[in-house]
Amino acid sequence: MQDKLTNILRTAKQQIAASDDLTVLDQLRVQYLGKSGELTKILKNLGNLIPEERPKVGAKVNQIKTQLKDLLTERHTSLQNAALDKKLQNEKIDVTLPGRGGHLGSAHPVTQVKNRMIDIFSRMGFSIVEGPEIEDEYHNFTALNISEHHPARAASDTFYLNDDRYLLRTQTSPVQIRAMEKYGVPIRVITPGKVFRRDYDATHVPMFHQMEGLLVDEKTSFADLKGLLHNFLNEFFEQDVVLRFRPSYFPFTEPSAEVDLQCAMCEGKGCKLCGSGWLEVLGCGMVHPSVLESAGIDSEKYTGFAFGIGIDRFAMRSYKINDLRLLFDNDVRFLEQF
Ligand code: DAH
Repeated sequence: MQDKLTNILRTAKQQIAASDDLTVLDQLRVQYLGKSGELTKILKNLGNLIPEERPKVGAKVNQIKTQLKDLLTERHTSLQNAALDKKLQNEKIDVTLPGRGGHLGSAHPVTQVKNRMIDIFSRMGFSIVEGPEIEDEYHNFTALNISEHHPARAASDTFYLNDDRYLLRTQTSPVQIRAMEKYGVPIRVITPGKVFRRDYDATHVPMFHQMEGLLVDEKTSFADLKGLLHNFLNEFFEQDVVLRFRPSYFPFTEPSAEVDLQCAMCEGKGCKLCGSGWLEVLGCGMVHPSVLESAGIDSEKYTGFAFGIGIDRFAMRSYKINDLRLLFDNDVRFLEQF
């Protein structure tokens, strides 16, 4: 029996030392010390031995058990440490590696164009005034001399809010009225902002951007307007632009004109985008006397001009974009080009 115990101890020691993972180690624990493990079995069968042997064998078994327990614990700790070391090794971060680099965004092309315009007009002495996007009927239409039954008021063109007196402004022109109400005359302002219409195709989207200009003083003429716009356009496009003033009609200006720029895509030959070779970029005219009166300005003493620029149209021309909708799809691959 003593030999058997010595053998068990020797084999167990070897196996424990050779075990290289925690599962195997646990199996060894069960094999020797478990309820039906080898040493437990011997203890259970002590009764079969001759009486003198029993205490000696019993003591020896218990001593081996303690020894094996210690060995198992020791091996367990060292395997656990090894596993931890390995994990740390795998997860090691090299803090000296260079970073992956941040991704810098850039201003949207419409914003870039708007800022350029603001910059040019500021140098011409214009101040920036902003107005509300939710506008009332009075400022958006009535005060601008737009009659009760004018088609521009139709619900098919305008986003009315629950109460029909309020709407999403269809133009930045109402800010002309608000600015004159607030600051009086003489006045020289631009009013950039979003406007809203029920429209959607390659050259129209339901939300787009306008920049209104208004100058009112004692001796303002149409010639001043033409000169100012021509200068602005030359500066904006950094070349002598080809443009035409085409007689037009707006309820809030008299006389009125639309300014067309020669199309950059086809250089005036006529293409899918422009049709005629010309791209309409802004409307303008001399402020209608009744608009001045709406804002409490003496129209006998003061005259002025106004203009409304399509900022998005300018972006299209500047960057040769042929579909206005691209500007508002927010596709990063498109936007990154600017
Ligand atoms: N509000 C006009 C529009 O949205 C643009 C416009 C035309 C503005 C003539 C003006 C102007 O100030 O004088 O179509």
